Amino acid sequence: MVQKFIFGTPFETEAIVSQTGIVTKDGKKALEDGSFPYFMIRMDETGKEVLSFSLKEEDIVFGLGENVRGMNKRGWHYVSNCSDDPVHGEDKVSLYGAHNFLLIKGERNLGIFIDYPGKLLFDVGYTHYDELVISLEEWNFAIYLIEEDSLENIAKRFREMIGRSYIAPKWAFGYGQSRWSYMNEEEIREVVRKHRENHIPLDSVYMDIDYMERYKDFTINEEAFPNFEAFVQEMKEQGIHLIPIIDAGVKIEEGYDVYEEGLEKGYFCKDQNGKEFVVGVWPGRVHLPDMLNKDARKWFGQKYDFLLKKGIDGFWNDMNEPALFYSEEHLEEVLKEVSAMQGQNLDLDKFFHLKDLVLTLSNNEEDYKKFYHVIDGKKYRHDKVHNLYGYAMTRAAGEAFEELEKEKRILMFSRSSYVGMHRYGGIWTGDNMANFSHLLLYIQMMPAVQMCGFLYTGADLGGFGSNTSEELLMRFLEFGMFTPLMRNHAAMGTRRQEAYAFDRTERFAALIGIRYALLPYLYSEYMKAVIGNTAYFAPLAFAYPQDMRASRVEDQLMLGKELMLAPVYTQNATGRYVYLPEDMKLVRMRSAEEIETEMLKKGDHYVSCKVDEVIFFVRPGRMIPLAKAADCVEKLNEKELTWLIYEDDACSYDLYSDDGYEKTYEDTAHLKHVKYSQGGIYGI
Ligand code: GLC
Repeated sequence: MVQKFIFGTPFETEAIVSQTGIVTKDGKKALEDGSFPYFMIRMDETGKEVLSFSLKEEDIVFGLGENVRGMNKRGWHYVSNCSDDPVHGEDKVSLYGAHNFLLIKGERNLGIFIDYPGKLLFDVGYTHYDELVISLEEWNFAIYLIEEDSLENIAKRFREMIGRSYIAPKWAFGYGQSRWSYMNEEEIREVVRKHRENHIPLDSVYMDIDYMERYKDFTINEEAFPNFEAFVQEMKEQGIHLIPIIDAGVKIEEGYDVYEEGLEKGYFCKDQNGKEFVVGVWPGRVHLPDMLNKDARKWFGQKYDFLLKKGIDGFWNDMNEPALFYSEEHLEEVLKEVSAMQGQNLDLDKFFHLKDLVLTLSNNEEDYKKFYHVIDGKKYRHDKVHNLYGYAMTRAAGEAFEELEKEKRILMFSRSSYVGMHRYGGIWTGDNMANFSHLLLYIQMMPAVQMCGFLYTGADLGGFGSNTSEELLMRFLEFGMFTPLMRNHAAMGTRRQEAYAFDRTERFAALIGIRYALLPYLYSEYMKAVIGNTAYFAPLAFAYPQDMRASRVEDQLMLGKELMLAPVYTQNATGRYVYLPEDMKLVRMRSAEEIETEMLKKGDHYVSCKVDEVIFFVRPGRMIPLAKAADCVEKLNEKELTWLIYEDDACSYDLYSDDGYEKTYEDTAHLKHVKYSQGGIYGI
């Protein structure tokens, strides 16, 4: 059962696309007549009304998508406010996405979705351990309360409400190499050559801002890429897709067509006085396209055609929180104050004031209140709808692809997101650091992100913003090989971290090869999860709701109905403790061919896992297909599969397989029921 309570006049975010079966009520009236369940309204310390939910000692709170801290969100506070924050630790409260979905496991399970595009606080037992507080800037929102017979079914119901998740092409399940600072075609050729020479599988190379002419969207630096179309083709012939980045801001430059057109049509965000708002990002001064305005969105989406026409079939949308290095207005003020300090004795107060002053330049809260969107003829101040910007940018692209490339699947993922965007693209988890703690965060984030429909997702493997190590990259890959997006990405200036950049190149080749061996299974699970609105990754509580120990496990997760994962995420480990909620078959892979298995009993185990090995666990009655490793997805032989089978009992698997390009997703011919019994495999 789903109940929707409307307070005030909510902004139509289009997060929810199916209202079927939802009982809608006026929130205020429901409060008065006592039909608003679970919540109480109370005043907080500042006199503001907040929603309060009383938590029992044993309640677990899952959800909140892309966020800091563990799978169980209890004990900390979180702010939905899409933020560019590469150096995030446990002390932070906001990351790149805003995913206002909570799943409470308690005496009665409950799903909660707050549809509100502005800033929103979730205090999940942080101020008071027994209270969940939801606090909004304005009381214009809809709250959905979802009750079903299991956690799994609540999550499924929510996914039905928000609509089918974006489907990536199959080649996008191959391994991708990325680095900010591949400066020209020769450097990219070399990356591809080294992967191929070392038999490291590879399907895509990402092009960061360096491919553009002075960081201008929809341009190409012709000196670095003299014949871009031919280069795209040359790469295709080697099985490589080039994936360019697109940034939110449009450079202010006379003669630059995107800028001039946008200006002429009035498609950029404006300030209070109706003047185009100026902010600074990579190219220096830019305007922000008003992605929330239908016409502007359509216009921006059509711009991707510039690259589609050159043979490009995938993109990543960046800086779309939107990230602001500075606003011109605030920069002027800061520069003035700084120059007035010249010649002064900078004592403690003054020096720290100077330092703070400069730090206030980027992503300043006040700047987000200084520009406006025009939505259906009405003006909205940006901060009121802030969390929708990345969603709208990706929607611009997604809607354009449907028109421009009707027959083809185009790869698209974004940095910033809100629920609803999952219909147009996937996400990567934004800038992370080359830390073991960020590997754990990635593991913990995956089930929550996927609850919000973002199935095509992954993190920057190896870590983005600092120097990685051979070991850390291996450990990242050993989990990353299970996430739909598997991309190694690093920032300019960091240690090189391509899979051939360390001593044990052949071990990297073997590990990435395992991804390709698992690919028929991973792709099948992804497609079934998309079509059936089921979980690809899930917390253990989904599969073992009665097992309180399993429900509280923070570093293991389920993949589909077949596997449990228990990645290693600490330095110098040669194994780890694993809790098995039932008997399982341990699988240890050193390469696509070197596989060891062992039957383990329910309970606690110490399982060895050397730095260059991957482990996972198969559940009773289950089996999964394995292919041979291949250089790229195109060369994967999906006809000759072997099967990893739980035991000798009868096992079965529903294998989804299509060509990976077309859009006949729901054709039942793609699904085969495969059975193992008495030594034979049937149904394939
Ligand atoms: C942002 C992105 C990162 C990219 C960089 C340069 O930090 O998150 O992935 O490499 O910008 O474009």
